[in-house]
Amino acid sequence: MSPASGCPRRQVLGGLLGAACVGLGCGPKGEGVAESAAPTCGPTPKPGAPGWWEIPLAEHPALLEVGGQAAVSKPEAYLELLVAQPEPGCYVALWRICSHGSCDVAWEDEVQAAVCPCHGSMFDEVGAVLTGPATEPLRSFPIGRLGESLWVYREL
Ligand code: FES
Repeated sequence: MSPASGCPRRQVLGGLLGAACVGLGCGPKGEGVAESAAPTCGPTPKPGAPGWWEIPLAEHPALLEVGGQAAVSKPEAYLELLVAQPEPGCYVALWRICSHGSCDVAWEDEVQAAVCPCHGSMFDEVGAVLTGPATEPLRSFPIGRLGESLWVYREL
């Protein structure tokens, strides 16, 4: 099933980065992805359902802090992620490897974007290119918190 785009929560970047969806937790939705009825960030995880992968916060304590980020590997799901919490309770999960090369991107709160240290490409919270030289987006994944874990969705 091909995921469709969706943004359950909106904020718009203006000025520096131009208009962009900053609905944290925005991104592709697929089967098994529940949309929260409450105005929360991202989908409501479904632990145990196909496609949901656990990221225990105890393994990545930086993600407990607003502004925190972590490189998260989930080899069983073929995921190499940049996960960040730009706003309280709101997480982003992006493919970590820059689409321009092989450098790891990092989240920068000041510009609300993932930035590549090698040549300066910038990507918004759904992985869209804001600034080149990269021309291809980073893949983004639905992510939400449940208890003491984050859950990221990727259908295999
Ligand atoms: S490798 Fe990321 S911008 Fe070139």
